[in-house]
Amino acid sequence: MIMKKLPSFLINTLHDISDPAAIIDEKYYVYYVNKSFEELFKIKINGKGKKYGDALTRLNLHLKGNKSESPQYINLSGQQQKIILSVYLLDRYKKSGNYFLILARNSEKKAEKSQRVKTSNPYEDEEKFRTEKLSDEFSELVGENIEFRKALVIAQRAAKSNISVLITGESGTGKEILARAIHSTSKRSSKPLIDVNCAAIPDTLIESELFGYEKGAFTGARTEGSRGYFDEAHEGTILLDEVGDASLQTQSKLLRVLESGTFKRVGGTKNIKVDVRIISSTNRDLTSLIEQKTFREDLFFRLNAFTIYLPPLRERREDISLLVDYFLKSNDDIEKQNLKFSSSAMEILTSYHWPGNVRELKGVVSYAVNMSKDSIVSPSSLPNFLFTQDTKSNHRGLSITSLKDKTYNLADAVKNLEKKLIKETLETSPNRTMAIKKLGISRRTFYIKVKQYGFD
Ligand SMILES: Nc1ncnc2c1ncn2[C@@H]1O[C@H](COP(=O)(O)OP(=O)(O)OP(=O)(O)O)[C@@H](O)[C@H]1O
Ligand SMILES: [Mg+2]
Repeated sequence: MIMKKLPSFLINTLHDISDPAAIIDEKYYVYYVNKSFEELFKIKINGKGKKYGDALTRLNLHLKGNKSESPQYINLSGQQQKIILSVYLLDRYKKSGNYFLILARNSEKKAEKSQRVKTSNPYEDEEKFRTEKLSDEFSELVGENIEFRKALVIAQRAAKSNISVLITGESGTGKEILARAIHSTSKRSSKPLIDVNCAAIPDTLIESELFGYEKGAFTGARTEGSRGYFDEAHEGTILLDEVGDASLQTQSKLLRVLESGTFKRVGGTKNIKVDVRIISSTNRDLTSLIEQKTFREDLFFRLNAFTIYLPPLRERREDISLLVDYFLKSNDDIEKQNLKFSSSAMEILTSYHWPGNVRELKGVVSYAVNMSKDSIVSPSSLPNFLFTQDTKSNHRGLSITSLKDKTYNLADAVKNLEKKLIKETLETSPNRTMAIKKLGISRRTFYIKVKQYGFD
């Protein structure tokens, strides 16, 4: 239900205050935002009752009681900020539904000022992100989706400074290749990029792996001693991969070297000064790890002076066909580089939910390339899991049965699938004999089905 009219005194007051303020309902429909709220969440309200799924629903607001407060980490053009959101139920308007006033204020704890980089104005228009030229180092990152482009453009801007960059995003969204692109675009490109898998270092070896050891430091140590990752990355970049999975021990060692810029080798006494640029990546939600006390907040603020979020593939479905072309073109088998996916094969790819993101798509393309015998890839050359509905995730795209003919009746679903496959095979085969062969059914059954579905 839509609130008929917000009282003007309320609007005028919210309009005049400098703190970000908004009015939403329990479904996160937004009825009013003032200028600072617009700026903070980069949303523009044009019309009443507009739903801003992304920016707001991602927040974990407590839309129930009369008043609640929740700290949130909000990425404002690459800068992570801790914001306290106060949510008030507007009791007076209860008759027309539950409406909430949200007031935001900046918590004192922010990313350090000195580490901030000048970033874009939140109103910087999308066209700029779309058209800003990216250097060749970013060419391995394929995609035109605006959120994805923004991530690349911001990464390119951040690459030029020494600022710490945290790359977040689900598994397989390209965090590692983006980290490499940032390093290669930076002034440090001629120096090494040292990839440290934080999840894989056993606690007993952390210090010697990160900082190296002096000769004779412990039994079994090599006589000449050993250099650690920080030594090797001197003047270059360290990629703290899977940093969200680092043990608390590893986190405290990392924090120490990041704060002091120096470290001691195991068995050594000398403080060694080190000049490294830190890029970290994780597919975990660090803010909830902080709440669970498994990730140190102080380390988080060291790492995330600049945060770049890579969206999952299901939120940029328009890039799927670009990526398919890219993976086909980069295929070793030159003859197969000209393969094309049929429209129904593409439909299956664009409706699948891609839990493994681009890595999974790459695997599917390579599977299809190996399976397909013709110049057109049809659904029969796609792996079976694309046709299986995963009931755990609430993805939209389902299977070969597209939304409009989706049914829970098994016999109907099988019929739909059969009909689609036959249609597809007829379209992509040079003649009926080939189609029959591909479908693996008898000629008689084929003609019965063709008649039944009206394809004759
Ligand atoms: N936008 C993209 N364009 C082309 N290839 C991509 C893109 N994103 C990812 N890939 C490819 O997908 C695979 C996975 O990418 P990457 O290793 O960078 O993912 P990740 O985010 O680091 O995953 P994880 O969290 O599992 O470590 C790689 O083979 C990479 O080349
Ligand atoms: Mg990775």
